[in-house]
Formats: sequence, C-alpha cells, structure tokens
Amino acid sequence: MKTQYYTACTLDGFIATDDHSLEWLFALGEPAEHSYPAFIQQVGALAMGASTYEWLLRHAIAPSAGEKQPWPYAQPTWVFSHRELPAVPGAAIHFVRGDVRPVHAAMVAAAGDRNVWLVGGGELVGQFHDAGLLDEIVVQVASVTLGSGRPLLPRRIVAPVLELTAARFDSPRFAELTYRVNRKGSPGS
Ligand SMILES: NC(=O)c1ccc[n+]([C@@H]2O[C@H](COP(=O)([O-])OP(=O)(O)OC[C@H]3O[C@@H](n4cnc5c(N)ncnc54)[C@H](OP(=O)(O)O)[C@@H]3O)[C@@H](O)[C@H]2O)c1
Repeated sequence: MKTQYYTACTLDGFIATDDHSLEWLFALGEPAEHSYPAFIQQVGALAMGASTYEWLLRHAIAPSAGEKQPWPYAQPTWVFSHRELPAVPGAAIHFVRGDVRPVHAAMVAAAGDRNVWLVGGGELVGQFHDAGLLDEIVVQVASVTLGSGRPLLPRRIVAPVLELTAARFDSPRFAELTYRVNRKGSPGS
C-alpha cells in the first residue's frame, strides 16, 4: 500500500492556472490514458483540497452549462476545507480540516490493501509530505509552460533527493515520470 500523488503538470511545474483553469491541459488530450485505468484500480481512498473539489463541482457535477456528470470516484474521498462546501448526493465524501495525520490513518484503514491517492493541490500534498506520509509522485508532464499558476509541490525536497523510478514517453505531448519519495536514512539520502 502506497500514498501517491498522481497528477498532470506543465513543464514549469504548475497543475492549474492562477485562476484554476485546466483548459491548457484538456487542449492536449487525455494526459494519462495509458496509466490511469491500472492506477485507479489500485486506489482505495482519495484526498483533495477545496479548490480541486470546487473545480469538480463547477466543471462536472453542477456545470453552469452542459451536461451534469456523476461523481467520478467509487472510492471514499476526503475533502479538506475550512469552509462548509456543498455535498454531492450519493458520493462517499468526508469533509475534514487541519492535521492530515489522523485523516491519513482513516484513509489507510478505508483503503485496505489498496493505495491512497492524493489528488492535489500541491500545498495539501506538501502537508502529507511534511508528515512523512508521501511515498510516490507520478506526474504526467505536459509539453507546455504557463509561467505562473497553482504549484505542483511547493516544498524544498533536496535531501534525501527524490528517486526517479520510471520515465515513459507517452506522446509528443506528455512524459510520465514516477518518483519514489525517500525518507531520511533510505537510498538517495
Ligand atoms: N493538473 C491536474 O491534473 C490537477 C490535479 C489536481 C488538481 N488540479 C487543479 O489544481 C488546482 C489546485 O488548487 P489549489 O492549489 O488551491 O489546491 P487545493 O488543495 O485544491 O485547494 C486548497 C484549499 O484546500 C483547503 N485546505 C488545504 N489544506 C487544508 C487543511 N489542512 N485543512 C483544511 N483545509 C485545507 C483550503 O481551502 P479553504 O481554506 O478555502 O477551505 C485551501 O485553500 C485546482 O484548480 C484543481 O482543479 C489539477
């Protein structure tokens, strides 16, 4: 069982624009068509921050135009927010705030022998990393730059270094990189 940050980002390390647009990403086609089906099968619990959840509400669950889509995840999801956010009827969503450690324990218990997916954003994933709870980063690096935006992982991780365990050419538009997050005393430190 691993705790994974699986996401797409620009070459200059942003997962969304400053105003939370992903149009740059969808213009490139499906970022993870090769790895996502196998990845999501191994996920037993998800966590995301308020902006990511609100993006899903705005663009999929309750869009102002176009067709409504169902909540996309069968697995239980933990949403971090200091605010009261609207729920999605029928979806297994837990609204939480504060320390990520007890939330992670609950996620691991719910996931059983499957993995925990940290959907984003970067600062929330950073909080899991700060607590020593992040095992792996899988990132589909898009062949674009934005210059600014919401950061992939706003932390200084230099010792121990991340360990690149896989690099795959997906298409001229995406490369998928997988990194093991080393703990102190482990290889790479
Ligand atoms: N490229 C991709 O594949 C990809 C993947 C995931 C997300 N995204 C996008 O990236 C953007 C990420 O937005 P973001 O950087 O603002 O990150 P975010 O994690 O989605 O949202 C940040 C918010 O989460 C809440 N939060 C975080 N930690 C918390 C804690 N410990 N306790 C309580 N609340 C906490 C806070 O909300 P409040 O204080 O407001 O309650 C905070 O402002 C979104 O637009 C999302 O759609 C892109």
